[in-house]
Amino acid sequence: MGRGQKKRIKTEELTDKMDKIPKHVSIIMDGNGRWAKNRGLERLAGHKAGVESVRAATEFAAENGIGYLSLFAFSEENWNRPQSEIAGLMELMIDAIMKESSTLMDNNIKFEAVGDMSRLSSNVREKIREIEKKTAENSGLVLVVFLSYSGKWDIIQAVNRVVQQVANKERSADQSVTVECFDKLLNTSGIPDPDLLIRTSGEQRISNFLLWQCAYTEFYFTDVLWPDFRKNDFRKALDTYAERERRYGKTGDQINKIN
Ligand code: FPP
Repeated sequence: MGRGQKKRIKTEELTDKMDKIPKHVSIIMDGNGRWAKNRGLERLAGHKAGVESVRAATEFAAENGIGYLSLFAFSEENWNRPQSEIAGLMELMIDAIMKESSTLMDNNIKFEAVGDMSRLSSNVREKIREIEKKTAENSGLVLVVFLSYSGKWDIIQAVNRVVQQVANKERSADQSVTVECFDKLLNTSGIPDPDLLIRTSGEQRISNFLLWQCAYTEFYFTDVLWPDFRKNDFRKALDTYAERERRYGKTGDQINKIN
């Protein structure tokens, strides 16, 4: 085998490998309460243990060339939980984000929060803005934390923006809305749709998460409870993803360029 040929094969293998790495992995972190209950602990102990899994997942994503890691940390529906759990969870998340801010900087990680920020306390909002500003120029992994978020809220917000644009005469009433323009009106604008969505704890539902954005996302469910989720579990999800054939409505032959 000539030198050029050898080099070409290597490059092809590398490209193939890179193709199998999802650009955006999203995680519904579930099972903290059950993890705590199994140990006779308060629910908040499960959330605390879950922070270690956030660290492991973030490290894994950065180490493996994943572009975006997004975490469903607090849903709109979670506001219906006991006040003490909400307060504890908010404090825990802000503490963790602030404590890890130098790690984010050292590892070139950009932090973004998406959700209905108006429902958060001004203290939490300010801390989030502070860390977003601090990491804004980082060019490595983008860590997106969904807080006070729901998919239906996101879609309704986008629809209302269209209505507002028409009312403000920034858009004519007979101008059709396209998928591309709607994408830009969502709160996730600029973030690619997830390639892979992982949900822990054995539940197999989307729970009002990224409803629009998950149109062609591959789903991976694991029985592992979120506080037990470690790099080897993330690896298993990526290995499963690598075996999937993403057809986007086309035939397998079209995808494999047989026809
Ligand atoms: C779901 O488990 C988990 C949550 C609602 C909170 C997840 C948040 C964290 C792990 C902290 C994240 C921290 C950062 C820095 C983003 P559950 O309480 O619904 O569990 P259950 O279904 O077993 O009751």
